[in-house]
Amino acid sequence: ARRKLVLAIESSCDETAAAIIDSEGALLANQVSTQIDFHARFGGVVPEIASRKHVEAIVGVIDAALEEAAAALGLTGGALEPRELAAVGVTQGPGLVGALVVGVAFAKGLAYAADVPLIAVNHLEGHLFANLLAEPTLKPPFIFTLVSGGHTMLVHVRDWGDYRVLGETLDDAVGEAFDKVAKALGLGYPGGPIISRLAETGNPKAIDFPRALNRKGDYRFSLSGLKTAVVNYIEQETEAGRTIHLPDLAASFEAAVFDVQYKKAWGALRETGAREYCIGGGVAANPHLREMMVKKLGRQGVRVTLPPRNACTDNAAMIAEVARRKLERGEFAPLDIDAEPNMTL
Ligand code: KG4
Ligand code: ZN
Repeated sequence: ARRKLVLAIESSCDETAAAIIDSEGALLANQVSTQIDFHARFGGVVPEIASRKHVEAIVGVIDAALEEAAAALGLTGGALEPRELAAVGVTQGPGLVGALVVGVAFAKGLAYAADVPLIAVNHLEGHLFANLLAEPTLKPPFIFTLVSGGHTMLVHVRDWGDYRVLGETLDDAVGEAFDKVAKALGLGYPGGPIISRLAETGNPKAIDFPRALNRKGDYRFSLSGLKTAVVNYIEQETEAGRTIHLPDLAASFEAAVFDVQYKKAWGALRETGAREYCIGGGVAANPHLREMMVKKLGRQGVRVTLPPRNACTDNAAMIAEVARRKLERGEFAPLDIDAEPNMTL
């Protein structure tokens, strides 16, 4: 039988993305159009700009995905037609409401016109399923850390769809902390890639930044105290007329964030008896975090799975992976669904 094709759309924040996956999990198209340049000068994502840029970009992104998939399948007659799809998946939430509605409304229109079922996807589950793009054999139970611009949580995945959130951030998300520190240093947006590049040549022990809620059995996170400590350090050094060694600052900040991530992940693995670990969200693209988890958890006998680096930051391939499995189970959404900006795992 011919493989079924699922097209998925992602528009929860500042990337307009579309991907096409087949029923066996082969990724045939993966298009991402980023709006970063339009938000960078404001030092963060401006919701109204995000919505409008999605409106402008979405048709081009979907056309490009339909063409890319046709080429991947070796079809000569041009782009795939929407009616050749088995379903249309879309991120329903969480995210910016005005950004989400663009993808949701477009997906509904496409499903309606092509007369194919609609599949609603939770963006956070997408970040989890990005691991399956690297390791299709990954199976629960395992511990999962989600570290993105909007979320920071440690999750015991007991089964697919059975998520016990062990702890979340009480204030800023990890990615948000990277962005705020970069902003305080006048380095630009988004901060994650900038800080991680700087950290490459820095000494992680140069500055002793605080590790919050660093107690056994406590899986909650807090990043705002660390951010304040970094801001205070910058002020103190500037007032004293000393130049700040950016690589040392970046490496020490990363060390404070990632130490806590490792300790809590290992604590959760021990407490639950899970022997597998995976990670997701934009911060999971960070090479130091990836290397640390592989090395330190590996030493404890834990099998570590990492998503492909380009599947950590927002993309539609991870949404397509969730949608493909929902298609298998016939989990469709009615055509009157709305965006759910506060959806949880
Ligand atoms: O998952 P994502 O693309 O969007 C959300 O769902 O929030 O995550 C974006 C976040 C931003 O805060 C960005 O600074 C951070 O991920 N990020 C990184 C790196 N690349 C992106 N943080 C640390 N190191 C990186 N290499
Ligand atoms: Zn995300």
